[in-house]
Amino acid sequence: MTQERDATRMHDKSRTTAQRGSRRYARLLVTGGAGFIGSCFVRDVLGRRDGTHITVLDKLTYAGNRSNLAPVEADPEQAARLRFVVGDIADPEIVEPLVAEADAVVNFAAESHVDRSILEPVDFLRTDVLGVHVLLEACRKEQARARAGGRAATPRMLQVSTDEVYGSVETGESVEDDRLEPRSPYSAAKAAGELLVRSYFITYGLDVVVTRGSNTYGPYHYPEKLIPLFVTNAIDDQQLPLYGDGRQRRDWLYVADHAGAIGHVLEHAGAGETYNIPGGNERANREVVATLLELLGKPWSLVRSVEDRPGHDWRYAMTGDKLAALGWKNKMSFEVGLAATVDWYLANQGWWRPIKSGEWEEYYRRQYATRLAGSRDAG
Ligand code: NAD
Ligand code: DAU
Repeated sequence: MTQERDATRMHDKSRTTAQRGSRRYARLLVTGGAGFIGSCFVRDVLGRRDGTHITVLDKLTYAGNRSNLAPVEADPEQAARLRFVVGDIADPEIVEPLVAEADAVVNFAAESHVDRSILEPVDFLRTDVLGVHVLLEACRKEQARARAGGRAATPRMLQVSTDEVYGSVETGESVEDDRLEPRSPYSAAKAAGELLVRSYFITYGLDVVVTRGSNTYGPYHYPEKLIPLFVTNAIDDQQLPLYGDGRQRRDWLYVADHAGAIGHVLEHAGAGETYNIPGGNERANREVVATLLELLGKPWSLVRSVEDRPGHDWRYAMTGDKLAALGWKNKMSFEVGLAATVDWYLANQGWWRPIKSGEWEEYYRRQYATRLAGSRDAG
């Protein structure tokens, strides 16, 4: 009862910065650590060489790629602090022993592509909702063990969520206390996942935190999302399928800044808190595509206006005041980050060319064949 009241009090909206002292976690469980942002987090944390040990749990779906961790696996000192487990976050038998060994769990694992959620939503429910529940239950078991004196502290769990949970933001910027109004199966599943996390804080007093990052870009990005798809297609002089009029707006965040902010929130945020992680680089899709083409020296005529994404969110925008008050500042400018990303895809064709075959070709046909057949000049 007291526990519940304390937990509820911590959610009091008058507490704008529930900052607590800094804490380092020596043993991390990083789920989804073979994906785009998770692998960046793992490379950056191990690269600090501060003795942190990481276990990665990853199902290696189409989006997971063990070679994203090749730079750390090639370095004996870092490799010695990394363990890789192939498995599903929705499987309690795999999850529970790993959570039992961890001081903190950082959950990147998700089905993450909106277009795939429109084609086939069910995997999104399994991983982004049920998977989160399994992780929370495993933390709750460790809380009971800690209370019984079986371990020093309950593991902290950080849930990596998204700005898409706010829905389309026609004007202004979302703040952390705004209503969640997700509009795609992906964002609805992510919202459900983070509401479960919140409920485990309020009901059980679990030590949880949530981050909501904006559109992320950078190296090792699976080439189904706007920037890596358009860069890799343009390198091969293939058409670029721009949805609708391409005037939709996104706020772009460099991957190392997203991963760094997650690490900062993990170590500094108070339990039960949620933090936006904006990029501070709002652009219309057309502008982003024009810049990419300029960097690659390719013509605008590659761009085709195709049938829009159903339920397409027109704009996302968030304020980062709460994160700034916690002491975090992004380092990368959009211009430098985008140029570095284009250079990376030019220099690492051995990474993305194998991905754009097999299952990829079937997905690409399903997603784009009819659209491109009916496409128009993009103006
Ligand atoms: P990603 O698709 O590149 O990687 C997801 C990883 O999770 C893959 O390695 C995959 O194999 C793994 N995975 C999927 N299902 C799993 C399961 N059931 N069990 C274990 N592993 C599983 O995704 P990303 O772009 O790196 O996104 C990481 C997280 O950040 C996601 O939770 C996503 O919702 C969130 N996010 C992404 C962005 C973005 O722009 N990419 C922005 C904000 C938030
Ligand atoms: O905002 C955070 C979210 O950003 C994350 O939670 C998601 O995991 C991540 O996939 C991303 O979602 P978006 O739907 O915004 O990203 P995507 O790259 O798919 O699309 C960016 C914009 O580009 C969007 O307005 C749709 C448009 N687009 C995308 C693709 C793939 C096109 O015009 N053509 C395309 O082929």
